[in-house]
Amino acid sequence: MQKYCNLNLGWRFKEGFEEEYITGGKDEEGRLVHVPHTVKEVPYDCFDQTMTCMISTYIRSFQLPDMAGKRALVSFEGVSACYDLYINGHKAGSHKGAYSMALFDITEYVTQGGNRMVLCVDSHERSDVPPNGSTVDFLIYGGIYRDVTLYIQEETYVKQVLFRYSLDHGTAVLEPELLIRSHGPERNLWAVTSLQKDGVLVWENRQKIQVSPDTASISLKPGQVGPVGLWQPEDPQLYQAGVELQDEDGRCVDCFQTRIGFRTIQVEPDGFYLNGKRTKLIGLNRHQSYPYAGYAMGRRAQEKDACLLKDFMGLNMVRCSHYMQSRYFLDKCDELGLMVFEEIPGWGYIGDEEFKKVVFQDLENMVLGHFNHPGIVIWGTRLNETTDYDELYEETNRRCKAMDPSRPTTGVRWETGSHLIEDIYSYNDYSEDDQGEHMLLTAHQATGSTKQVPYLVSEHTGAVLPTKPVDSEERQEEFAIRHARAMSKIMTSDQYLGGLGWCMFDYNTHNDHNSVNKVCYHGVLDMFRVPKWAAYLYASQKSPEKEAVLVPCSMVGRGERCEPVPFYVLTNCDYIEVTLSNDITRTYYPSVKFPGLAHPPVLVTENGEFWQHRWTGARIVGYVGDEAVAERRYSDNPRLARLMVEVDDAVLYNDQVDETRVVCTFADEYGNRLYHHPQVVSVSVEGDIELVGPPLIPSLGGCAAFWVRTRAGGTQGTACIHIHTPRPEIDDQTVTIRLEREDEKSF
Ligand code: GAL
Repeated sequence: MQKYCNLNLGWRFKEGFEEEYITGGKDEEGRLVHVPHTVKEVPYDCFDQTMTCMISTYIRSFQLPDMAGKRALVSFEGVSACYDLYINGHKAGSHKGAYSMALFDITEYVTQGGNRMVLCVDSHERSDVPPNGSTVDFLIYGGIYRDVTLYIQEETYVKQVLFRYSLDHGTAVLEPELLIRSHGPERNLWAVTSLQKDGVLVWENRQKIQVSPDTASISLKPGQVGPVGLWQPEDPQLYQAGVELQDEDGRCVDCFQTRIGFRTIQVEPDGFYLNGKRTKLIGLNRHQSYPYAGYAMGRRAQEKDACLLKDFMGLNMVRCSHYMQSRYFLDKCDELGLMVFEEIPGWGYIGDEEFKKVVFQDLENMVLGHFNHPGIVIWGTRLNETTDYDELYEETNRRCKAMDPSRPTTGVRWETGSHLIEDIYSYNDYSEDDQGEHMLLTAHQATGSTKQVPYLVSEHTGAVLPTKPVDSEERQEEFAIRHARAMSKIMTSDQYLGGLGWCMFDYNTHNDHNSVNKVCYHGVLDMFRVPKWAAYLYASQKSPEKEAVLVPCSMVGRGERCEPVPFYVLTNCDYIEVTLSNDITRTYYPSVKFPGLAHPPVLVTENGEFWQHRWTGARIVGYVGDEAVAERRYSDNPRLARLMVEVDDAVLYNDQVDETRVVCTFADEYGNRLYHHPQVVSVSVEGDIELVGPPLIPSLGGCAAFWVRTRAGGTQGTACIHIHTPRPEIDDQTVTIRLEREDEKSF
């Protein structure tokens, strides 16, 4: 399709809705807002969980050129949760579902020149729209939170191309299927399909096709391409794929561009095979929420999450729990080589026929809409943790397979012995005992069957031991070690295709799922994506060649426990040397208790006689072979010495809403994070940016983090973030951000 412009900027927003808004007048009384937008900013915690359940109105005017012989379409990639669309006073469509994309043909309502669009958005948790209906363990927030795009098309256009292919010994047979819409008379066109690698054309094919208003899909004749580079986690090769429709004079009627990757997937009872190679799936579950902004965070923040999962924590899979996620997130997963398990929205509830209609619509939206992402390797065709409902799930599975026979399906259960309709039996395993020594059921226990089937642990650990960033050393350590035990067990047995920990980061939720403050502390990162020790457990499984990790699960001091030991060190070093105060230097090796881990944690067990001796500091050195690759030092008299301020991006685009995160860490003189230091930072900004959330930010576990976003004012230059804390020994700091334009055409 031919993007005409982006409509993210310049909406007027009003709480509530009146019939008269449809036809106009006093639009300027609405608040000027930009997309991504949330109907209400939500406090960090302790808020009214119904505060975003409301009706609201978004109004936007836009200009169109002469539309003779043309069609106008508008797409909404994500609006939570239901809406009616009005164009120039006429109802042009409606949509149900917070996570699905909708495309409206608005041709009959628009004119050349000025036009006006109104969206009446309902963000109540309606039981006729998944995931709601039960006490859902997350919030759906509300508002237009993903991109809005205007298209101007000829009478025939391509809505999507499904780049289907098969692979044989490195050669691909490409069979693109064009999803077409045509309004004019029957006509002949040329479909020119091309494939580029790093900007170089590697394959092209021309075929004649015939389209008429009845044509919905055209499968092009197969074409052989090869040899092709494979998409694989260590080297995710991507191709630029395109189809141009040309009329008989060679004039372009429409074109479609996407990225694809070639890989094979096979699931067997003994493993998940990617490109013929058995690959253990190790990852985490991800929600798409952020503090204060809810779902309303744009491209950069979405991409950052993918980087944290793949680059920082070294994982190879993410489950998009429990709904379809942003294309920016999925695109980044494709680029990084992060495999994705994506599922339709749902949580513990199946509603009536109206509800099921939305389930089928979501399924189609997910499978057809996200078909070309090579990163997606599993479709989830059940609603998370619903009970067996064979009639519905046979149908979702059948429809999914009909649209995409190339990917395996699954569905996530919390019941053992459920019926297996899909290719993979997925189970959320929180069966660990109180001490967390015995983790995870066997596949047979979970499936309730003696037959071995492909079995995936779709969630583990987090829910059993919620861990706040301010919790004690023991708790934080235990949280990390339970992740280690679960991962080790998964790695050592062929009965598990893999395991996905619950969950990537803490999130806001309903009262039924937290300690009365509306925050669910199940993440290995906190809500601001600041790591708890459990995150370093994953990070420490990376090769030390990528990055040496050396993180003690301790503040390293005599501390609350009177004794400095025992504590684990999360590390990918071969061994560590530890000197605790006046004690001799002792050498420790990875623990034998985690045989499945590439780099098991190291348990530090001994110390000299410290009681009533003065603590003189400590030193931990990590070695790979003979080489010291990481060192940590600890003071004899640790004190607040600095505020380390890190900003994720030095440049933001100001012709759109663009965000970046700032993390302020209170640290001692050796740069060690002071986990138990409660403090406040006060933030002010200068220039064309604003803070997401309040200007006074309490630290959580020794870190205070926040996002800033551009005001989309278009100005270039610099913006400043001033950071102040009340402690006199900490100097005020200023972070400078450069503002540039990415030149997004927006009217
Ligand atoms: C699971 C559910 C998740 C989350 C988790 C822990 O049962 O699938 O969404 O609620 O429990 O809280």
